[in-house]
Amino acid sequence: MAEPKYSSSPDAHLDPLVAAAYDEAVAGRFATEDVGPSVEVLADFAGDGLAVEFAVGTGRLALPLAEKGVAVHGIDLSEPMLSELRKKAGADRIALTLGDMTSTQVCADAAVVYLVFNTITNLRTQALQVACFRNAAAHLAPGGRFVIENQVPLLHRLPQGETIVPFDVSPQHLGFDEYVDRVNQISISHHYFINGDRVRTSSPAFRYVWPSELDLMAQLAGLEPEARWADWHRTSFTGDSASHVSVWRMP
Ligand SMILES: C[S@@+](CC[C@H](N)C(=O)[O-])C[C@H]1O[C@@H](n2cnc3c(N)ncnc32)[C@H](O)[C@@H]1O
Repeated sequence: MAEPKYSSSPDAHLDPLVAAAYDEAVAGRFATEDVGPSVEVLADFAGDGLAVEFAVGTGRLALPLAEKGVAVHGIDLSEPMLSELRKKAGADRIALTLGDMTSTQVCADAAVVYLVFNTITNLRTQALQVACFRNAAAHLAPGGRFVIENQVPLLHRLPQGETIVPFDVSPQHLGFDEYVDRVNQISISHHYFINGDRVRTSSPAFRYVWPSELDLMAQLAGLEPEARWADWHRTSFTGDSASHVSVWRMP
């Protein structure tokens, strides 16, 4: 089969300007209400063991998790993102590896591997997403967990014949998901970041994926389902949930 049109463009975070602007662009996700509950859950799963973050970025969760005393190893594809992380206080507590979460392995005895903020969808083919699950499994000690936080595709919100769903309309940011390729499950998130009279735009492509497909990927990787919540407060996941936190366990 021919490679889908949107599958191979470089990840936007490889651009040093995007990396430098990352923390401000997603400032809401750095808020204590957001970071606190996720770090609680991940610290609980890590216990005295090692936590590995796939796509660690600028350390939004890795830094507070390390501050809690958890040994954290972060992997990321983008040197500019890692370089932003290294500038921050406490960065020396985290082991960092420049690499690809579909293939780079840094240990085989982790208590928890986690991949948050919808980043499984940065892998824009099913084969890459499956490789990511297999790589997560290869990192885990028996009983270890793989945790994913991901949004549920919003296709059901589309009026008949439409392809675009707004996901954020606020004074500083407008965001619209455009479902451009329903065969290969590709959407484009159009962002308009507004700062006074200046607007910065970005339109990265993603491979959206339903929770049920992730369960099959976990099964292929030898992992067993343990939990699915609507959020990091362990709220029950329902048909109306817009995102999920899913946990699979290495037997
Ligand atoms: C939305 S950011 C998330 C960063 C961080 N986990 C957070 O929650 O703030 C996505 C990150 O995924 C990284 N990334 C994308 N594809 C990757 C891959 N194949 N392997 C490792 N990192 C990848 C990008 O460089 C970027 O740092």
